[in-house]
Amino acid sequence: MLSDKLQSELNEQIKYEFFSANYYLAMAAYCAAEGFNGFANFFIVQAEEERFHAMKFFNFINEMDGRALMKAMDEPKNEYSSLEEIFTLAFKHEKFVTGRIYSLMDLAIEEKEHATISFLRWFVDEQVEEEASMSDLLNKVKRLGEKGEGIYMLDKELSQRTFTAPSAE
Ligand code: FEO
Repeated sequence: MLSDKLQSELNEQIKYEFFSANYYLAMAAYCAAEGFNGFANFFIVQAEEERFHAMKFFNFINEMDGRALMKAMDEPKNEYSSLEEIFTLAFKHEKFVTGRIYSLMDLAIEEKEHATISFLRWFVDEQVEEEASMSDLLNKVKRLGEKGEGIYMLDKELSQRTFTAPSAE
């Protein structure tokens, strides 16, 4: 049984994961408008991952006999000026999400809520990958710039990304 406080924080995380999906779709739209269709695909797939994360929280709350709630979200930033700006913001956002997961874990540990601790471990590991992926692309975009063969090749590479639901659930 989840405490009211823990349930409320888990519900907040559903909101943040869906917000992340919208944020990345806004970034995908900018990339598509600038002709970077591979980068757009990268963010569309990333948005699918975020919805998958949100549904993990939704399903977990249900399994724990709790009550999942859909909360109002802020509008994500829609205007961007470069790929470097996008990946700087995406990396910053993933670090923010990692902070949220750590706070949730701290609360679950404080409450000795072992099922939630076990559930959140998946997200602790996932956030390592999420931050690494954004940081890696930020470094590549900085190095390649926005014109020339290099960025074209990277765009082409990112067009191959597809969503596969992670198996470790
Ligand atoms: Fe749901 Fe990108 O973390």
